[in-house]
Amino acid sequence: MKILGIETSCDETAAAVVENGDKLLSNVVASSMDIHAQFGGVVPEIAARSHIEAINPVIEQALKEANCTWADIDAIAVTYGAGLGTCLLIGVLAARTLAILHNKPLYACNHLEGHVYANFLTSTSLPNYKMPSKRPSFPLLALIVSGKHTQLVMSKDHFEYKVLERTHDDAIGEAYDKVARLLGLPYPGGPSIEKAGVHGDATAYAFPKAKMPETYAFSFSGLKTAVLRTAQKEIGQDHTFPSKDVPGRLSEAQKVNFAASFNHLAVETVVDKCIQAFEEFSPKSVVIAGGVAANSELRSQLTERLPIYIQYPDMKLCTDNGAMIAALGCFKMKLNQPTADPYSLETAPGLSM
Ligand code: KG4
Ligand code: ZN
Repeated sequence: MKILGIETSCDETAAAVVENGDKLLSNVVASSMDIHAQFGGVVPEIAARSHIEAINPVIEQALKEANCTWADIDAIAVTYGAGLGTCLLIGVLAARTLAILHNKPLYACNHLEGHVYANFLTSTSLPNYKMPSKRPSFPLLALIVSGKHTQLVMSKDHFEYKVLERTHDDAIGEAYDKVARLLGLPYPGGPSIEKAGVHGDATAYAFPKAKMPETYAFSFSGLKTAVLRTAQKEIGQDHTFPSKDVPGRLSEAQKVNFAASFNHLAVETVVDKCIQAFEEFSPKSVVIAGGVAANSELRSQLTERLPIYIQYPDMKLCTDNGAMIAALGCFKMKLNQPTADPYSLETAPGLSM
């Protein structure tokens, strides 16, 4: 079974072909991030226009790299939510059109579920991929950490899951992006904070961990404010000092120490709850999903603290891509999940898991 996956929920125009849910045949990603970086965040209209330009070449390239013609493709899977409405629309319209044109079943995929299915990809002949050697088993605990979501999910089986709790304010990736801006580091914040933090001292600043009444709930808005207040104090100013002027007053040594201390604490916050859920629910596997899953500190803290051996998806399959959507599509087809109507499928920007 070969599925073409299409993903356009944010700034990446992505398409990939996956065989049988675990074999990656191609993975093509075109990003308009270079344009957004100068604005300090993704501009939906610019991203949508870039998707229009890139979608056809990206899909053609994904088929070509997989050595496939349309006759080899069994179905099309596409992200229909959550994401930016104008961006989702381009992928959904392309998928609908191709499903009608080539007479293929169409599967509408939830972006967050897709992130989880990146963990099911275990083989490829493409160069430079480091994948788990075997598929995760159920019951499965998923720690979802992206730019828009932070949540723990327990799955009894495919498509049978319960969200334990979510973030009550900012997502963890959003906190990385906001703190990076505060330190004058480039967007997207996650990779730049991680890079800067390598040269810093993670014990230099002690930020507080949010205490939530619900065991598995998250909150990151307080941490972002704590970083701002500490930085203002560090440069001898009070809370009225404008945040946009903070980076210019911080030394390089202070910046890298802020990055390292924040990175350590943000990761420790999600790892604490993941360990707690592991102890309560005794899952057979633990997986990490979403852009922040590319973080090395997250991987090393989990490896150190989880009592089971855990394998991680390739970094390239953690940030948005079509492969995770194609993998999810394979399981939908295998397990007789409902198909979408190519004449009427709409986007669902606010879709949750
Ligand atoms: O999953 P994703 O690509 O898009 C969403 O679905 O949101 O996640 C993007 C988020 C951004 O906030 C970015 O800063 C963060 O993932 N991110 C990271 C790393 N790489 C990307 N955060 C921490 N460490 C990283 N290495
Ligand atoms: Zn994502």
